[in-house]
Amino acid sequence: MKVLFNGRLIERSECAVDIEDRGYQFGDGVYEVIRIYNGILFTLDEHIARLYKSAAEIGIDLSFSEAELKSQLKELVDINQMREGGLYLQVTRGKAPRKHQYGAGLTPQVTAYTFPIQKPEKEQQNGVSAITADDMRWLRCDIKSLNLLYNVMIKQKAHEASSFEAILIRDGLVTEGTSSNVYVVKQNAIYTHPATTLILNGITRMKVLQLCEENGLNYVEKAVTKDELLNADEVFITSTTAEASIDGQTIGSGAPGPLTKNVQTALQNSILSETAKTV
Ligand code: PDD
Repeated sequence: MKVLFNGRLIERSECAVDIEDRGYQFGDGVYEVIRIYNGILFTLDEHIARLYKSAAEIGIDLSFSEAELKSQLKELVDINQMREGGLYLQVTRGKAPRKHQYGAGLTPQVTAYTFPIQKPEKEQQNGVSAITADDMRWLRCDIKSLNLLYNVMIKQKAHEASSFEAILIRDGLVTEGTSSNVYVVKQNAIYTHPATTLILNGITRMKVLQLCEENGLNYVEKAVTKDELLNADEVFITSTTAEASIDGQTIGSGAPGPLTKNVQTALQNSILSETAKTV
């Protein structure tokens, strides 16, 4: 398996990250997870645009163009002959003697690798369970930062409770999942938290809202209360790896409801049409 390391495709075993890489020591960096369908990086432009935005937000200047990076990632997918899977891409601020302040002149370190993914078909068909937890993360959840400590702690709690996801609640309102966006269906309308600094504006979220628009499904970007979540007709989540699934705490019938299924179908069709080989 090859990996991308600062512009070069090398064997994974040859990839050596410095012990004083600031990503390693401080979580000082940003990342993306991109889905590969039929050998094609799905919504690649959107993911790369978000990576550059996240990097700019924390003051990392990338010296290479979006086009250059995209072509390196496509090369990586091709060389690894990855048909169905995912790609993890990370940019750290660089390596330097360990100090909190970073000064100037660091060279961002870019790594990427591909990995297989099992399509979450069973979960999409049957639904999954979720727990709720206080959202105690920082207030810049819009940045796709490497700092995922609270997300990790709470996801582990969900896992230990045999749940698929934890839905986070801040000041009584549903924000998002530990690694997904959350949607609540009530009386034929889909509610999801607005894209503020309190959530990550998921690429799948943007795609789903666009598909709602195109398919005449009613959606409102408004945060709902925990009570409204628990009394919803349907609840579903989306992310690059989970696509669209879920129902938590026996919501509705406990199985994916009609609007969830509509969104799933619309997303599947969009994935199929956008990743159909043109050659
Ligand atoms: N997580 N919110 C959070 C906190 C996330 O970590 C993610 C994705 C999302 C959904 O974003 P998208 O649709 O762009 O994947 C929302 C990725 C998959 C991860 O960390 O593995």
